[in-house]
Amino acid sequence: MQTDILIIGAGIGGLTTAIKIAEQQPELTITVLTKTNDSESNTAYAQGGVAAVWDLKVDAYQKHIDDTLDAGDGLCKLEAVQIVVKEGPDRVQDIIDWGARFDKTEEAYDLGREGGHSENRILHYKDLTGREIQRTILEKAAQFSNLEILEHYFAIDFITQHHLGYTVTRLMDNIECYGAYVLNKQTNEIERLLAKITVVATGGAGQVYRNTTNPVIASGDGIAMAYRAKGHMENMEFVQFHPTALYNPAGENPDFLVSEAVRGFGGILKTREGEEFMHKYDERKSLAPRDIVARAIDNEMKQRGEECMFLDCRHLDKDAFYKHFPTIYDKCKSIGIDPMNQMIPIVPACHYMCGGIKVDQWGHSSIHRLYACGEATCTGLHGANRLASNSLLEALVFGHRIANDIVKKVRQHSIREDIPEWNASGTTDPKEMVLITQSLKELKEIMSSYVGIVRSSVRLKRATDRLSLLYRETEDLYHKTTLSPQLCELRNLITIGYLITRSASIRRESRGLHYTTDFPDKLDILQPSIL
Ligand code: FAD
Ligand code: SIN
Repeated sequence: MQTDILIIGAGIGGLTTAIKIAEQQPELTITVLTKTNDSESNTAYAQGGVAAVWDLKVDAYQKHIDDTLDAGDGLCKLEAVQIVVKEGPDRVQDIIDWGARFDKTEEAYDLGREGGHSENRILHYKDLTGREIQRTILEKAAQFSNLEILEHYFAIDFITQHHLGYTVTRLMDNIECYGAYVLNKQTNEIERLLAKITVVATGGAGQVYRNTTNPVIASGDGIAMAYRAKGHMENMEFVQFHPTALYNPAGENPDFLVSEAVRGFGGILKTREGEEFMHKYDERKSLAPRDIVARAIDNEMKQRGEECMFLDCRHLDKDAFYKHFPTIYDKCKSIGIDPMNQMIPIVPACHYMCGGIKVDQWGHSSIHRLYACGEATCTGLHGANRLASNSLLEALVFGHRIANDIVKKVRQHSIREDIPEWNASGTTDPKEMVLITQSLKELKEIMSSYVGIVRSSVRLKRATDRLSLLYRETEDLYHKTTLSPQLCELRNLITIGYLITRSASIRRESRGLHYTTDFPDKLDILQPSIL
């Protein structure tokens, strides 16, 4: 198969880029892949909303910039922050023009508040903002005859000079991407999808931890593919744990999120006995940035030997609560919790990768002809900790910029025709799926026990040793077995585990989301971790 532009991922990052190219260049062919169906993405799960400076009478760009820099704890790149904050409102207006509905009061948008924001600036659609955005971008994409979405196509590896028999190393600055090998899940065939330009927008990797708010598609495939292709990764140690996933003793994957917007609406974090505790950690209490709140909850749970802490909403107006958070209300009721009469049990859960594929302000990765957009990237916006609701905004802004850059440059490139077919010789069908499922469980245990909210040098060393064994076993299996999505996801998640652990081991300080008991202070020298 051949296409002008190959986009891997149909969430907000991938589809925004695709739509913006299709709008400008009807003669280009654009192929978007999604590994399951087109409505399943992290995007679709977003609850709180999109942060944007919307009302300049009460808010200001500088305030949003300062809040983002403050949450990022010294590691944000100022240029990226300024770009996203200042271009953000126009990009939000774009999706409103495409049909996205956001809640309104009588005269204006109903702007919500989340942790770390100094103003109300979150546009939202009830607690279903992500579903509304995913619906909008899918409907908009369907209007273009030159834009095709292929569902159930699983990208395996980027095609580079490596596949033409050349040695490719991370030190080279002339690596090029010619498309990707993809597994057609309907035929089980591995196809070559050749492209002039490839964009990776495969989202996050929350599934590397036992507890996560991320759906099962979030296995870091694009990040791992880019690393295998010898691209550069940045800030992988900064894994954001959301403070308030619903504690469900029955266990579920993913964990259900209780949006930070609930705290913005007046919900208060408390102990089982109903006492507040956040004042001990930060003057902003329940609305402090996420790293602080998640660590505080983790600490209280450990000190008290509790399995969860609580979010108290009993003092809030029932009708208003239900109007804003119908999904959260119904979910709590479904597990026997009435949020208006009982405190909601909550636990921190892995939520967002602040690090990822290193890109510049136009979304270029270190590999030529390969752009990256969305949660799979590190643009420099989030630094050591992402400010709530800045992620959807980042994808909108960068999707627009990437599209503009591609439109300018695509004609410089041609399809490379001399790419060999995928070589599956010597592999046999998997006989023991338990090898994959058990290794995945082990991986999640290792990451949750040793590379979670609080780290130490001994824990990181133990994780490194355990991961290298899992890596060797899985590579062995990979080379002998016919490929399946499950095996590819396991392999990708092991790479993600390695990248997080390696970056965490290199950072000999505590900053933002990375806290280690061996180096509890911040260093004076600010530096990103690049692998
Ligand atoms: P995704 O939306 O995850 O899309 C990834 C796409 O890549 C999917 O189509 C998937 O099928 C495809 N894909 C992945 N691997 C492959 C492969 N190997 N082959 C082919 N296709 C592949 N952010 C905010 O700003 N505000 C919020 O309120 C908010 N709430 C959130 C609530 C929850 C529960 C979660 C989980 C996240 C939330 N976030 C929020 C974060 C935000 O939703 C994500 O960061 C963002 O949607 C990521 O978009 P994306 O386009 O990068 O990736
Ligand atoms: C939430 O609604 O709490 C999630 C917001 C985010 O991750 O940005």
